[in-house]
Amino acid sequence: MVELRSLSTRVFGHAHEHHASLGSTNDRAASWLREGGPHGLVVTAETQSAGRGRNGRSWSSPPGGNLYVSVGLRVGSARRDLSALGLVVGLGLYEGLGPIEGLGLKWPNDVLVGHRKLAGVLCESRWAQDVEVVVGFGVNLRREGIDPALHERAVALDERVAGPVERAGLLARLLEALERRLDAFLLMGFDEHRQAYLDANVQIGTRVRVVSGDESFEGVAVDVDEDGALRVRTDEGLKVVRAGDVNRVR
Ligand code: BTN
Repeated sequence: MVELRSLSTRVFGHAHEHHASLGSTNDRAASWLREGGPHGLVVTAETQSAGRGRNGRSWSSPPGGNLYVSVGLRVGSARRDLSALGLVVGLGLYEGLGPIEGLGLKWPNDVLVGHRKLAGVLCESRWAQDVEVVVGFGVNLRREGIDPALHERAVALDERVAGPVERAGLLARLLEALERRLDAFLLMGFDEHRQAYLDANVQIGTRVRVVSGDESFEGVAVDVDEDGALRVRTDEGLKVVRAGDVNRVR
C-alpha cells in the first residue's frame, strides 16, 4: 500500500489512487484525466499486467515493492518545447532519487546507476481542450523483484542504499522534485533546465550508437537542443535525434 501522508507538494499527489493491480497506471491516469481529474493527479499500483515501456516495449511490473506511478498533467496549450518535457521528468527523478554514487541520465530520460537502469519514464499525451499529458515512471526498489533475465541491465535501489527503502517517503520526495521541475518548465520552458540536464547526462561527450527508426549510426553525443533533441557529431556531420535508442559504444 502506498499512502501519501507527508507530502509537501503544491498539487502533485493531492488526488491519489492506489490499486492492487492495473493493466497500466498510464491508462488509468489518462482515463481519470478524460473524466475531468485534476492537474497533478497520481495513480500507483502494486503490480501491472500490461506495463508499457518506451518504443513499444513492455515494462516488467511484478508485485513486491517496486514503484509504478503515473502523474496526470493539464498543460495550457500545445507548445513547441513539449517534446523536452520527458527530459525534465528524467531530471526531476534524478534529483529526487539522489544522491547515489554513479547516478546519471541517459537520453532521453532513463535513470542509470553506472550502466544499469534504475528507473524509466514513459510520457503519453492527448490533445483535448487542453493538452493532457500522462507522465509514467517505474523505479526498481528491490533486487528481489527484478526479473533475473534483466539482472545485467537493471539495478534496484536496495543494492545502492543502506537499510530498507521506505516506499511512500521516496514517492513523496520524487513527486516534490518532479513538481518543482515541471512547474518551472511549464512556466518558463526548457532553457532553464537544459544545463542541469546536460550535467546529469552521462552520455554527453561520449561515443554512442543511435538506433532511430530505420536509421542506425555512431558518433559523439554533443548536447541537446532547445527542444530536447540530442545532437550527435558523426563523420557525415551533426545529426539531430528526436526519438530512438542511444547506447554507449563499448
Ligand atoms: C521505459 O524506460 O521504457 C519506460 C518505462 C515506464 C514504466 C512506467 S511504470 C508506470 C507507468 N505505467 C506504464 O505502463 N508504464 C509506466
